[in-house]
Amino acid sequence: MYRMSVEEPYEGGLSFEDGIAFAQMLDPLVDAIDVSAGNYDTADVLLPMYPPGNLVHYARAVKEAVSVPVIAVGRLTWLLQEMNDAVGAGEFDFVALGRAQLADAEGVAKTRRGEHEHVRRCLAVNECISRWMFNGQRTQCVINPKLSQETRAEASLRTGAEQKRVLIVGAGPAGCEAAMVAAERGHAVTVMERDGELGGQLRAWSAASFLNTEIEHMINFYKVELERLKVEVQLNTEASEADLENYDEVLLATGTVTDDKPGAPSMQWIC
Ligand SMILES: Cc1cc2nc3c(=O)[nH]c(=O)nc-3n(C[C@H](O)[C@H](O)[C@H](O)COP(=O)(O)O)c2cc1C
Ligand code: SF4
Repeated sequence: MYRMSVEEPYEGGLSFEDGIAFAQMLDPLVDAIDVSAGNYDTADVLLPMYPPGNLVHYARAVKEAVSVPVIAVGRLTWLLQEMNDAVGAGEFDFVALGRAQLADAEGVAKTRRGEHEHVRRCLAVNECISRWMFNGQRTQCVINPKLSQETRAEASLRTGAEQKRVLIVGAGPAGCEAAMVAAERGHAVTVMERDGELGGQLRAWSAASFLNTEIEHMINFYKVELERLKVEVQLNTEASEADLENYDEVLLATGTVTDDKPGAPSMQWIC
């Protein structure tokens, strides 16, 4: 199987015509061609950030030019039904999911079960890649805390010896993640949130970001997961000292202070 960039879209880069000609040279020599585009001078193409499916036309073009099976790639976790239809129609033969698998290794299985809302869908911010490739750190995913510490995450889900009443103050991503772990461990969990909605700073980011819909999906993910795990969510509720006394454990997840202003170039453009 051969992974190739069909085009390097900048002056002096590999042209689309030469890329197709190269695919045709490969055709008799390989079992399948996996079609990407770009190189490190066009990281936004190579590791597409937006929109989903923006590399698929390259796979369609290669499919028309060769006889071996062709694989499409590029944010396809957001387009699983369309990709299913495209494969069925013979536009290409397979789709590959890269970052989608880092964000949620169960994503395909959940989709097959009709649990679309319960998939952590990759936001394409590329934290996973930049940490190890450019900074030499272990890889991490901004929406999947388990990534690269799966053993530790698994251990954290062991059932607690006794069921405790756990209060989590703050329903941003940290509070929601903590609530999910505590509930999965068998505790009775309540989340109190001062605002009228879940999401915390994700809300501010989603309002300002071109990834708006995708971040909204993540906020909804927390909503449906907390429902699934029977976590009691109290919105429009400021935790008082009296509230704290009713619980065995209290976790404050009331937010962080960040220098980044919503809308400022930051995580989206790490590449
Ligand atoms: C951690 C990581 C490492 C990657 N390394 C390579 C690589 O060595 N060669 C390559 O052609 N693409 C590489 N890619 C790009 C992926 O193969 C894929 O084309 C790209 O991430 C777009 O697909 P996706 O949206 O499903 O992630 C890498 C992607 C990730 C997330
Ligand atoms: S870090 Fe970002 S780009 Fe990487 S898998 Fe997670 S959400 Fe996707």
